[in-house]
Formats: sequence, structure tokens, C-alpha cells
Amino acid sequence: MNKNLACNHCELRSGCRGVVFGEGNPDSPVLFVGEGPGQTEDDMGRPFVGRAGELLNQMLTEVGFRRENVYITNIVKCRPPGNRTPSPDEMERCLPWLRKQYAILKPRIMVLMGLAATCGILDKDMKMNRCRGRWFRRGDIQILPIYHPAAVLRNSDWREICVADLRLVKQVCDDS
Ligand code: URA
Repeated sequence: MNKNLACNHCELRSGCRGVVFGEGNPDSPVLFVGEGPGQTEDDMGRPFVGRAGELLNQMLTEVGFRRENVYITNIVKCRPPGNRTPSPDEMERCLPWLRKQYAILKPRIMVLMGLAATCGILDKDMKMNRCRGRWFRRGDIQILPIYHPAAVLRNSDWREICVADLRLVKQVCDDS
């Protein structure tokens, strides 16, 4: 399966176990994009299955989403060594895969979890405290940056903010 997938767009593939492509409902109107697989995700070949993933699942449930009904992926598909943040160059080189994903999935809404996904997709100079909770539009897609669940694990004050942002996503989903 994904352990056999090859990619030579950047160096990350040579340092990880497998490609964590993404998972979820391909008919979902919402595509969630994180930073990159961590150790647990690399071991299991699935996105957001470690502690940050557990928190994401809880917050999704809290606002009325079910994890299996949305689609979840990352801006880079291979685990960066030591779970470091992917470099702008690595994100740029991996972007063709994400572009293919949204060409196939055709989401109406994209939720960018954390600064890496936000800078990689919207603008490299974005600052989380200025853009989270603000809607952007690229073509037909509405885009909402939110705090990364791993950042929420480190700062529990952000949980409420993150849940409120996810509630916005649910509302837009239900209204359209
Ligand atoms: N953090 C991410 O950004 N992605 C994952 O898949 C897991 C943790």
C-alpha cells in the first residue's frame, strides 16, 4: 500500500516509512489540511491518528461533524525527520499532490490547520493570530485557517477558539 509509493519531488520520502496521502469521504464538501505526518501517522499510514488527531476528532464531533464524513490530508505527505516543520521548498514540491486531491475531491471549503498549511497555500507571510477565523477565497473554494490541533494541545486556551472556528465551517457547510 502506501509503503510502496514512491515520490522524488523532495527528500522527505527517503526518510519516512510511507506516504500518508489522506483519508475520508471523497464526497465531503470540506477538505482539512494539516502540516505533515508525525511518527504515529507514518507508522499507520493515516493522517491525524496521534494525540493531535484525537483532539481533532473530539472537536469535529463537538460541532456536529463525523471524522469519517470529511476528508483529511496534509500539505506534505511524508513525515519530516524528527517531526520538524516542512520547509517552504518541501511544501511547494508536494503541492502538486494536494492540487490533484482537490481537483478530484472538488471541496467547497478548505480548512487550513496551522501556520505551515496556511503559509503554504495562502501566503508565506501569513500570521496565525491575524488570519485564523477569517475566510479567504481562491476560485470556487472558501478557505478558513484555524489553529493546528497540536498547538491547541500546547495551549488549552485556544480550544474554545478552535471549536468556534470549526462551528463556522459546519454552519457554512449546512447553509450551502
Ligand atoms: N499533525 C499534522 O499536521 N498532520 C498529521 O497527520 C498529524 C499531526
